Amino acid sequence: MSRILFVCLGNICRSPTLEAVARVEFARAGLDVEVDSAGTADYHVGEPPDRRSIAAGAMHGYDLSVLRARQIVSVDFTRFDRIFAADRANLRDLERLRPECGTRPALFLGDEEVPDPYYGRDADFERVIALARQGMAALISQMRSAGH
Ligand code: 4NP
Repeated sequence: MSRILFVCLGNICRSPTLEAVARVEFARAGLDVEVDSAGTADYHVGEPPDRRSIAAGAMHGYDLSVLRARQIVSVDFTRFDRIFAADRANLRDLERLRPECGTRPALFLGDEEVPDPYYGRDADFERVIALARQGMAALISQMRSAGH
């Protein structure tokens, strides 16, 4: 079984969306993957996801409402086999936090970012869902080719 962690800044918009989409899509694909999410910042620790993210997820069959924000901790870098950052700022923060020998973080979309929708409008939250679905499909086919 592999363990995958999704990371953004606040853990209330992008990474909980990635976590919820991953849970559904990996199960649909028959892949045994443990998923979780975290933020690099502690601003929203303990809070549910942003209501706009919950609403966008629900429209597509992804339940974010049970999730609660947490901040990444050092042990995450040994607990998870793969750590995916939503954007380049998240990736830089993760590289700074990574202990020696810890899992090396990567951008979820390879060389594209999942843009921060927090100060945006509804369409920006829709875009996060679309990118999450697109990236998860790519990750699933990559995992399948790797024999998972
Ligand atoms: P997230 O979005 O990193 O996708 O969860 C944000 C959430 C909160 C803030 C920024 C981005 N904030 O500045 O509080």
